[in-house]
Amino acid sequence: MLRLVKKVKDTAKWCILQVINKCLSSYEVKEMFCDKYLPFSPLSREKMCRKEFFYNAFRALSFNGIDGDYVEFGCCGGMTFALAYHEARRFEYNTKLWSFDSFQGLPAPEGPKDAHPVWKQREMTTLLDQFYAICDSNKIPRDAYSVVPGFYKQSLSMNNTVSLPENISLAYIDCDLYSSTKTVLEFLMPRLKHGMIIAFDDYFCWSATQISGERKAMMELFSKDCRWEMVPYMQFGWHGNSFVIEDKKISSS
Ligand SMILES: C[S@@+](CC[C@H](N)C(=O)[O-])C[C@H]1O[C@@H](n2cnc3c(N)ncnc32)[C@H](O)[C@@H]1O
Repeated sequence: MLRLVKKVKDTAKWCILQVINKCLSSYEVKEMFCDKYLPFSPLSREKMCRKEFFYNAFRALSFNGIDGDYVEFGCCGGMTFALAYHEARRFEYNTKLWSFDSFQGLPAPEGPKDAHPVWKQREMTTLLDQFYAICDSNKIPRDAYSVVPGFYKQSLSMNNTVSLPENISLAYIDCDLYSSTKTVLEFLMPRLKHGMIIAFDDYFCWSATQISGERKAMMELFSKDCRWEMVPYMQFGWHGNSFVIEDKKISSS
């Protein structure tokens, strides 16, 4: 019964957000409306925390003269993608945006390290056309971003012939699972540069039997590569954490 009530409440909230989405065309007005009338819903709170993160991250990158693209791994609902676009533009930080997602929801778990009570295969599916429509409704011009659809094992591999970003200033990892994060970090490793920021949306999402998959992947990959220091930058909400990449050669000289 309680689960049913929660589901009805969640559906009602979702419907309200869809109506707001349809009725208010300006992104900023929409944001103000949500902050004013839905400030204590978990969705709204979490969004505000992420918005603050993007505000700080783009302010820092812009202030410190670190240029590059914004890459997001796990984009389905388009929420963080829109926040990133608008916060970057706030500081006239002219970054190109990249969206990486299967557009088929979560992949099958690859082992016990992917175990989590909430994340199940095919959950959080947003189709590619829906993603474009969400970006349009959030006033993100089509020429401001590129979409690379597919599961990361394929889309981030050397065999993929589409062009991929090389100069990255902010990487936002929101793909939940250990195995997905590992593939993403393997792609990012040769593209790391001093001063860039990496954020993990699910850094504090662990379970009764596992540590956070994103954190586990990060620890594994960064313990192998000793060139880079991950300097803690900003924790956001109850779930996310971020780091500035420092080149140890510079920090120790
Ligand atoms: C939590 S959702 C992202 C939410 C999004 N940032 C937003 O603000 O609405 C996680 C996404 O990661 C994607 N994902 C997870 N693992 C993936 C993989 N191995 N390859 C491609 N996409 C993946 C799923 O398709 C899903 O859309």
